Amino acid sequence: MNGYRCFACAETQSADFAGFVCPDCGGNLDITYDYAAIADEVAGGFGDERTDLFRYAPLLPLKKSESPFPLRLGGTPLYAAPRLGGLLGLRNLYLKDDTVNPSASTKDRAGAVALRRAIDIGADVVAVASTGNAGSSLACLAAALGLHAVVFVPESAPIAKLTQCLSFGATVFAVRGSYDDAFDLCLSASDEFGWFNRSTGYNPFTREGKKTCSYEIWESLGRRAPDRIVVPTGDGNLLSGIWKGWRDLHAVGLIDRLPRIDCVQSEGSAAICQAVRLIRDSGTEEPDWSGVAVDEVQASTVADSISVDRPRDGLAAVKGVLQSGGEAVTVPDEEILAAVPEMARTTGIFAEPAAAAPWAAIRQLVRDEKIGADELVVCIVSGSGLKDIAGIRKAVAAPLLIDPSVEAIKESGAFRFAR
Ligand SMILES: Cc1ncc(COP(=O)(O)O)c(C=O)c1O
Ligand SMILES: [Zn+2]
Repeated sequence: MNGYRCFACAETQSADFAGFVCPDCGGNLDITYDYAAIADEVAGGFGDERTDLFRYAPLLPLKKSESPFPLRLGGTPLYAAPRLGGLLGLRNLYLKDDTVNPSASTKDRAGAVALRRAIDIGADVVAVASTGNAGSSLACLAAALGLHAVVFVPESAPIAKLTQCLSFGATVFAVRGSYDDAFDLCLSASDEFGWFNRSTGYNPFTREGKKTCSYEIWESLGRRAPDRIVVPTGDGNLLSGIWKGWRDLHAVGLIDRLPRIDCVQSEGSAAICQAVRLIRDSGTEEPDWSGVAVDEVQASTVADSISVDRPRDGLAAVKGVLQSGGEAVTVPDEEILAAVPEMARTTGIFAEPAAAAPWAAIRQLVRDEKIGADELVVCIVSGSGLKDIAGIRKAVAAPLLIDPSVEAIKESGAFRFAR
């Protein structure tokens, strides 16, 4: 890395800047690189025998580390999904299965880079505000590294995510209030006690972890970009990271075409989609970013991971959607929930509601004729269904309760199955 640039006012800081946000306007910071120098290094690919996300070291803002990370981070599979795609006539649908990360969500990518940064600067207590996944991820990775994690979640966080945090030995504050209240408290507490704050968006290193998802998709597809990537969005950091990954590959000359990035939100938590639509409706091609506001909403959705009133990486996400020519798609909760078993039945991948939202969005994009049958489409499956059983339970039928006899199976009628 060679410095930072503010997403809002474009002011730059040098690489030794110690803060996390722009000292001029408070905007989020983008980490910058000397792409010309890196281009030479990666011209033939990344050429690293590691299979985890640290294989992309030339494009990561970290010191060289002699010891490998004790858990495998990233390096997740990209699966073709012909039967799921076939439901809508799509011939080139792929799922990026980030549920197989150590804590079962894509948040581990962000945590990996943020925690290595924490170690680089000598921190030993790491804190995060979270709807649940960033917390369980931080707790997991901190446990592996021998650091102490402090996690702030809204008291409504799903029990599986909370239990993960507690099992990994984190100090967990269940805040009486929303995710946004937890976020503000984590910020004040980190200032007060000198903790390294890994909170999403606010900490620029989280985006650098998430961007590795794009590098992996590029490699899995035989070193090319898809036509579009469909991204579940709350704070907007996953989306801004995915977009950055492709821009990096473009900047170092490894791709010559950028994909569209589609933003998916629940209708009940759609601050970023609303901001994109406002700008598009105004007919502005390239707005003055320092004047763009992502207005707060009162979020309420079954997809708890993407339930956000005030997106903490909203501006960067809005930029990603607009600059890439992607769609801003809002989906109702019923369609998000229905997408979970539909994906599971046709692919064998069990997604939490937020992670199934991209499939619900694709249904809508096909309905509106915005996706062609031959487009190469990648959905980011960002978290495991095991994280929110209570939510998903509403979308599946009850089991068939029977006496323990073959007769009872016959009486149930459920014994002849079509392939
Ligand atoms: C499973 C899952 N999907 C998607 C997201 C959205 O990421 P972001 O909040 O960066 O937009 C999250 C964030 O918590 C998540 O946990
Ligand atoms: Zn600024």
